Parts: sequence; structure tokens; C-alpha cells
Amino acid sequence: MVENVQSFHGPLSERVRSQVVAYCGDLKGRLLDVGCGNGLLFDELASYANLNCYGVDRSVELLMAVRQRRHGEVGCTKGMMDQLPFRDASFEAVTCLNTLLNIPSLELVSGALHEMMRISSGHVIVDIRNGDNPYMRMKYWWHGRHADFPTVAYRLRDIDALFQAGGFRVEQAFPSGINLRTLAWGYVVVGKRNR
Ligand SMILES: C[S@@+](CC[C@H](N)C(=O)[O-])C[C@H]1O[C@@H](n2cnc3c(N)ncnc32)[C@H](O)[C@@H]1O
Repeated sequence: MVENVQSFHGPLSERVRSQVVAYCGDLKGRLLDVGCGNGLLFDELASYANLNCYGVDRSVELLMAVRQRRHGEVGCTKGMMDQLPFRDASFEAVTCLNTLLNIPSLELVSGALHEMMRISSGHVIVDIRNGDNPYMRMKYWWHGRHADFPTVAYRLRDIDALFQAGGFRVEQAFPSGINLRTLAWGYVVVGKRNR
């Protein structure tokens, strides 16, 4: 599938990336961005001296864009998020941004999240469009019915349960918009491995 890269620049998508860039300032080690697209997360993150950044995506075209933009700074490889081509605990942090909204069911989100937890020794950071907000739930449901790709708003408590089932806990959930469960547009969710 050819992605519309213009859609990667929506205000909510930009906000999600900047929230994660701010959080990652305190992290060290290897970071993998799953569904990295054309590598927008790396524009700021790749300059962090404490992080070695890598990307994985199913789209060869988008990975070529990452290689052109961040030549020599960011390693990237083709892969699917439900079968990530990496060993257990091989990254300190795994991110997956502006992507779970395109996964059509919670069951598939569960498979992807378990893969991310398998390869992370510390953090898994994802975001959701907020399914507890009735407007967001309806908007993404409606859009998904009419577009040629799925869009779904998930609930924070469901993501929390998936993290717990994988031996992680939700350390923080950063809202976009109003900080109320039924009004926030979305959440960046930081999962941390239980020691
Ligand atoms: C909306 S874009 C977000 C890109 C990037 N994370 C960002 O924030 O700009 C979703 C990305 O996920 C990738 N993707 C979707 N499903 C995938 C899958 N099952 N495995 C790997 N990559 C996938 C797409 O190719 C696309 O690059």
C-alpha cells in the first residue's frame, strides 16, 4: 500500500511525535520505531547522543525516504509489526506512533504490542486515538468505513490490560487536548517492563 505522507503531518500526529521526543530525552540505549514511515520521529531524536535509533516499516518506499533523510544516522529494515525481525529484549525502548489507529482490531493490536514487549528490555511507547471520547470513537469509525484503510480509536483501559498481560505496567499516559478521559483526543502511553 502506498501511504499518503501528507497525512503524517496532521496536528495530532505532530503532537504525538513531539510528546515522545520530549519523553525520550531521559532514555539511553537502542530505540526502535515500529511503523517508522518516512522517519519523521528521527528528525529530532536522531540528534540525541544517548540514543541509537532504528526504524522498521512494511513499506520499502518509506524506508528509502528514511535512508535518504537520515543517511548514516538511523538504521532501518523492512518488517511487519506482528513478527518483528529482532531478538528478545534487543532494544531499551520501542515506539509505535500514529499507527495503532490503522490496526483494525484489538486482537491484532494485542499481537503487535506483544511483539514490541518481547523485543524491549525497558519501555514500549505507543499512542492511541481516544476511544473513550465519543466524538473520536465515531469519527474514526466513520472514517474507517469510508476510507480504503481502517481507522479505529482504542480505549486506554484496553491498552493498559494488554500491557499488564505482557508483564508491563503503564507508567504514564500523556493526553492530547483536554485531560479528561472522555474529552482527550488521544493518549501517548508509556509502558514499562516490570522488574
Ligand atoms: C500513519 S503512518 C505513521 C508513520 C510514523 N510512525 C509517523 O508518526 O510519522 C503508519 C505507518 O505504519 C506502517 N505500517 C502499517 N501497518 C504496518 C505493519 N503491520 N507492519 C509494519 N508497518 C506497518 C505504514 O507503512 C506507515 O508507515
